[in-house]
Amino acid sequence: MNTTLAFNSFQEKLDKDFNIEPKDVMPDDYRKHLIRQISQHAHSEVIGMQPEGNWISRAPSLRAKQILLAKIQDEGGHGLYLYSACETLGISRDELIEQLHEGKAKYSNIFNYPSLSWADIGAIGWLVDGAAIVNQVSLQRTSFGPYARAMVRICKEESFHQRQGYEIMATMMSGTKVQREMAQDAMNRWWWPSLMMFGPHDSDSPHSGKAFEWKIKLKSNDELRQKFIDKTVQQAEVIGLTIPDDQLKWNEDKQGYDHGEINWDEFKRVINGNGPCNKQRLDHHKKYHADGAWVREAAAAYAETNSKF
Ligand code: 3HC
Repeated sequence: MNTTLAFNSFQEKLDKDFNIEPKDVMPDDYRKHLIRQISQHAHSEVIGMQPEGNWISRAPSLRAKQILLAKIQDEGGHGLYLYSACETLGISRDELIEQLHEGKAKYSNIFNYPSLSWADIGAIGWLVDGAAIVNQVSLQRTSFGPYARAMVRICKEESFHQRQGYEIMATMMSGTKVQREMAQDAMNRWWWPSLMMFGPHDSDSPHSGKAFEWKIKLKSNDELRQKFIDKTVQQAEVIGLTIPDDQLKWNEDKQGYDHGEINWDEFKRVINGNGPCNKQRLDHHKKYHADGAWVREAAAAYAETNSKF
């Protein structure tokens, strides 16, 4: 098939809502856009294991510990699916990890905040995974096949993550005064960074134009953020948590909440490496990636030996 015809087939597949598959001819910029987004998504899943891992040995019960361990294990698996989807675009895992370690690739802003109390584990599950679900449900229909299929599996597991976080917050809000204050403190610290997870306003998003043209993005940053706010405010009210935004107000006309302005200076500071925990997160990842080199070498040697039979 000649390139023109092949590109026509790319556009034709997009127009007919067929998935683009790894072996299809695709514009280089489409490929680069996907490598950027999927790798950053994968990095987020793996780095996100750190703030939660901090509480495994401090979980308040065996049940809580088991649930947290299962959730963190899921996140590692999400990273695996996403790195594998990214590798089908012709980039190696080593290159992806190198981009992360050299600061050339981002990961979600949200994981650069400390998890200070057990209530933070509730806030992360409920708010962070809740925000991720809103974004990822939309990505189940993204145009790149391996990414869309990874999302279907990930969304199923995220629902468990969101529920377990909400259960922690609900339990604390029906507990002692100290527990209620701890839950509200976590709410105050995680609410605004969770809104930032959806990215800059559409008008300030340099990638959204092409993302929509290539059907990588099907809903805009602001649309998804609004959807998250509208459903989460009601959940907060049910358990007695206060949203830390004195401008939050139901807008009957738009059938959604108006809210205060997000601190975009903080967002830019955090995503450019200057958040509270950026250095800690990357140092940790670099150390344990190096410590685990022998496992990767042994697995590769085993695979090599057994591939000859
Ligand atoms: N954190 C860090 N960087 C962000 C960001 C965020 N929350 N939102 C946007 N950015 C960056 C973009 O990466 C881009 O920078 P780059 O050019 O260096 O890549 C810049 O800000 C401009 O943003 P755009 O909106 O133009 O970029 P996108 O079109 O890529 O949209 C996005 C940003 C909505 C995050 C999109 O990339 C996306 O949908 N990604 C997939 C979802 C994802 O990555 N989620 C991360 C959380 S995963 C998670 O929460 C795990 C869960 O299990 C807990």
